[in-house]
Amino acid sequence: MDIQKSPSNTQFVIAPSILSADFACLGKEVQDVLLAGADWIHFDVMDNHYVPNLTIGPLVCEAIRPHATKDGKPAMIDVHLMVEPVDRLVPDFAKAGANLISFHPEASPHVNRTLNLIRDQGCQAGLVFNPATPLDHLDHTLDLLDLVLLMSVNPGFGGQSFIPSTLNKITQVRARLDRYQAETGRYIRLEVDGGIKVDNIAQVAKAGADTFVAGSAIFGNKSYGTVIDAMRTELANSGIA
Ligand code: DX5
Ligand code: ZN
Repeated sequence: MDIQKSPSNTQFVIAPSILSADFACLGKEVQDVLLAGADWIHFDVMDNHYVPNLTIGPLVCEAIRPHATKDGKPAMIDVHLMVEPVDRLVPDFAKAGANLISFHPEASPHVNRTLNLIRDQGCQAGLVFNPATPLDHLDHTLDLLDLVLLMSVNPGFGGQSFIPSTLNKITQVRARLDRYQAETGRYIRLEVDGGIKVDNIAQVAKAGADTFVAGSAIFGNKSYGTVIDAMRTELANSGIA
């Protein structure tokens, strides 16, 4: 499948979380938000076990797959697994058309095995860190990662406020990923998820993020394009290339 691969240079990605979309017409919501200028679709999977909420699974991913296109090509479906255990669901999401699958390391007893499973299924792989989760799991996983996802809220719900201490964590991960890129030439994306709005996206970018999940900010406005355009303007004015 011709999907957007991580570029070798910084290119900002806006990934609306469909958690805040109208579930009664999800296919149209996906089409509309991509037409409005979104890059990826962020797909939040919650199991009422790892997090206290229950959302959508592989069947819904499969159902939206044909609607998730951009300029006639498949757009990235960025699956964020907030489930425990993880492995059982990975092949199902790969078959359902997920392009990138991220999971929380504390939800898998064998993180390396889960990352390899995701890659063996033909997907890109990401690790997700909650606000209070240390970054130790990056020590031995970078070669298997396409993306690091930092939570800027506690996972489980849309519409929460951005936790400011995330900025320091973004800076730390950025430095680490830059070092890794200098050593290996591999670019690993840094995504931030939770409470991202027009008025804080530039600050998050300046700290070092390149990929921005936004649910309520985009789907809570009747003009998705207005919000996405305003976010891109903020990013363009942030002074980061
Ligand atoms: C939270 C989810 C987020 C959430 C973001 O557990 O992972 O993706 O939907 O929503 P907002 O942008 O409203 O914080
Ligand atoms: Zn998410």
